[in-house]
Amino acid sequence: MWDKLIELREDRKARRISDLFAEHPDRASMFSASLGDLLFDYSKTQIDDEILQALIALCDKAGVGKQRDAMFAGALINETEGRAVLHTALRDPGGEPLVVGGEDIRPGIRRTLDRMEQFSHRVRSGDLVGSGGPITDVVNIGIGGSDLGPVMGVLALTPYHDGPACHFVSNVDGSDVHDTLNGLDPRRTLVIVASKSFTTVESMVNAQTVRNWMVAGGGNPGSQFAALSTETDLTEEFGIDTDQVFGFEDWVGGRYSMWGAIGLSLMLAIGPDDFRAFLEGGHNMDTHFRSASWDQNLPVLLALVGLWHHQVCGYPTRAVLPYDQRLCRLSAYLQQVEMESNGKSVAMDGSTLETVSGPIVWGEPGTNGQHAFFQLIHQGTAVVPCEFMVAAKGHEPDLAHHHKMLVANCFAQSEALMRGRSLEEARARMLEKGLEGHELERQARHRVFPGNRPSTTLIYPLLTPYVLGQIIALYEHRVFVEGVILGINSFDQWGVELGKELALSLGPALSGAGGLERKDGSTAALVNYVLTNGG
Ligand code: F6P
Repeated sequence: MWDKLIELREDRKARRISDLFAEHPDRASMFSASLGDLLFDYSKTQIDDEILQALIALCDKAGVGKQRDAMFAGALINETEGRAVLHTALRDPGGEPLVVGGEDIRPGIRRTLDRMEQFSHRVRSGDLVGSGGPITDVVNIGIGGSDLGPVMGVLALTPYHDGPACHFVSNVDGSDVHDTLNGLDPRRTLVIVASKSFTTVESMVNAQTVRNWMVAGGGNPGSQFAALSTETDLTEEFGIDTDQVFGFEDWVGGRYSMWGAIGLSLMLAIGPDDFRAFLEGGHNMDTHFRSASWDQNLPVLLALVGLWHHQVCGYPTRAVLPYDQRLCRLSAYLQQVEMESNGKSVAMDGSTLETVSGPIVWGEPGTNGQHAFFQLIHQGTAVVPCEFMVAAKGHEPDLAHHHKMLVANCFAQSEALMRGRSLEEARARMLEKGLEGHELERQARHRVFPGNRPSTTLIYPLLTPYVLGQIIALYEHRVFVEGVILGINSFDQWGVELGKELALSLGPALSGAGGLERKDGSTAALVNYVLTNGG
């Protein structure tokens, strides 16, 4: 399946991306696609017509269309867990009936969304009171998919906040809960325990600690706790009022769950109307994914560019670089969506993967990254394909001059990565500085940029709730397409289990209860260090 692409890669290895623009002045429009105002430009890559066609052939060979339709129809495509994958239904509450396990799931989705909205109105209007008065702060306790999406979304949509302040506790490290609660009023804080399974150790320990804090501070956990989970028996056991429990079903994977109940903190922050706009943006991307031809289909193109760079060219990582400070948690969020989904070595049928699995995903917002790791991106030996994203305008009209500089920096980076600077150009610069001979040559070599480094740019008018919905759904479907082509089940996560089991078994050892004879020498020595030096 990959032979043709590997051949094309070998054939075009020495070709410069900048020359492609000279050959085809309209390359930017040939190798970009849009959905409404959202524009995805992948022209600053090595991809040409023949490569694109060979990549598109992967979609057909792997049956992307068939799998996509199966996903939207509620088939049990998460085969290792025997589950449907229907987070897309959460952003289409009014859609046609959708039957899963003999039941139409739409009414349940609508009911939960309505209940979340009513609850949000009560909290935001001051109707729901804590023991000290209206709620001023919300603490969401959750980890992984029960944290990363809401954190990312709440930060991203700061200009839309008109509700209580939202805080997040995820780590079992006591410093996280300690520092988050510091300064909050336990009598006016609403606590949301977000956990699909309601058994995740970190979240359960944090929930208990926060409940103790609330009781000690005169708050009322009876009215000031809510839960988001598929396990309503367990939320009841924990003592959370069923009126304040928002459920969801096992056809929503943790890392795809911010569109439903797990998004409650986001809804509390921005309000139900803006939350609906976020859902509509996601649904708009779903409709596009289901209907656009492969060569105009944003999630498919993003996936194909990813496969070209990682599986074909062999670049080990990709950087997501939002020139948008409010997207500062996007790369952390995408690390779970991408790496928990496609970081696997075994194909759906149990065979070993034919190619390498999904890439390492990392990144930071620009311009900060420029003053940190961009040195390596420009001059290091490893090629890092960069995925830039930027808004045409910011939310602060008085600071429009900042935004122009931000955009200029974003565009300058992709241009620099592509163009580079030759030794001749570097020599000319050194000559201008008055250098000559060996010193000129030595200094010039340090100033050479190899260039020809690929990047893509996703550009949108303004980071609204709707646009954020489009972007998140775009990346979700990108991961899906890559997974189908690689033959991976993108919706399980068995790789996180072993560490969880071993952590449980280490608990007694760290309390001095022994059991170290079954551990390796290093682990036993580390435990002994803690027993000697810990509290
Ligand atoms: O450990 C991985 C994981 O299962 C993620 O997939 C999930 O998002 C996270 O833990 C949290 O799980 P839960 O929502 O059940 O607490």
